[in-house]
Amino acid sequence: ARGAGPLPALRGVRLPSAQPSELPPSYSVWMDIAHELPQLIASRQLRARIHQMPQLNTQHLRGREELHLAHLVLSFLTMGYVWQEGEEGTMKVLPCNLAVPFWEVSQTLGLPPILTHADFVLANWRRKDPSGPLEIENLEPIISLPGGESLRGFILVTLLVEKAALPGIKATIQAVHALRHLDDELLHRALQGLSAAIGDMDKALQQMHDYVDPAVFYTVIRIFLSGWRDNAAMPHGLLYEGVSEQPMAFSGGSAAQSSVLHAFDELLGIQHSQESTAFLHRMRDYMPPPHRAFIRDISRAPSLRQHILSSADPQLREAFNHCVTALADFRSHHIAIVSKYIAVAKAKAGQKEAGSIGKPPAALEAKGTGGSHIFIFLKSVRDSTREGLISA
Ligand code: ALA
Repeated sequence: ARGAGPLPALRGVRLPSAQPSELPPSYSVWMDIAHELPQLIASRQLRARIHQMPQLNTQHLRGREELHLAHLVLSFLTMGYVWQEGEEGTMKVLPCNLAVPFWEVSQTLGLPPILTHADFVLANWRRKDPSGPLEIENLEPIISLPGGESLRGFILVTLLVEKAALPGIKATIQAVHALRHLDDELLHRALQGLSAAIGDMDKALQQMHDYVDPAVFYTVIRIFLSGWRDNAAMPHGLLYEGVSEQPMAFSGGSAAQSSVLHAFDELLGIQHSQESTAFLHRMRDYMPPPHRAFIRDISRAPSLRQHILSSADPQLREAFNHCVTALADFRSHHIAIVSKYIAVAKAKAGQKEAGSIGKPPAALEAKGTGGSHIFIFLKSVRDSTREGLISA
């Protein structure tokens, strides 16, 4: 029921700022492999190194920050292990010395045992100069996969989109507060803050062009983000040895696992198609539980749309529509980027001699790394956003 419940709050840290970038010394065997991942994958030695690892006890990990870092490290090891030989040489079993601790850490955090957006982006950054700014030149990922500078750019530009979204998340909380207290002045300011933040996210996203090479993204990076659900290269899922007798299927990493656009959609009352909604709601299971709870709180708040419709205040309606337009524009620009980095990159990879930079995964030609039918999904989500406009 809408209207009930406490004010949505950012329970848990959405973008942790004082996170550790090293685990305690007893976990150095994980950290040592993690820091060498790109080289170990390139030289095809990662699987052998993982087979030699002792099975560590996860009980010495303290606090959510250390657990999130452990999830990040173990998820990267897992992706490297599964995809080291490309889509034709995948593994059916994740050995127990990796599977068991990864499962335990995942259970404690309420996350699935696979790489998620929270690993790849939210927990995976540090400042080079600790007192320097949160800008791309002063940032670096904690753990990497193959892809060099383009991988670094892909992670950090996505992080900067999250950073730009933060005032929009705060504005969302403010808008819910204003709705509850019928404070239209505050609501108007909140909506202005939200549309400005979405505009800033759009600007941040454009940096993808400067930092990420489409050929490297398409042929080298994507496969390591893909999962073992809705993926023809891993049709039977993955057996987590020592955890379950049956293989399990989990979707790969996707920006649909970011809480930001879910929260904005809920506030603005955007209604996506049945199929897109099913995928988006499933992606909420790949978010840290506090993010999931935040989105649920927004969805239960009094309806902003109803308020705008019944108040018939042209200023409020205009501010609302600016948010919807900014969100649809952001989604259009995202589609343009996906076209360049997937569709155009695919055409170019087809023209080049096979093997010049690597073989792109065939199973991901029409699919996102999260398993959606990528262009159908993104366009449907953009179009349903536009339908959220309120006419005079
Ligand atoms: N989801 C993005 C892709 O499909 C990363 O490439």
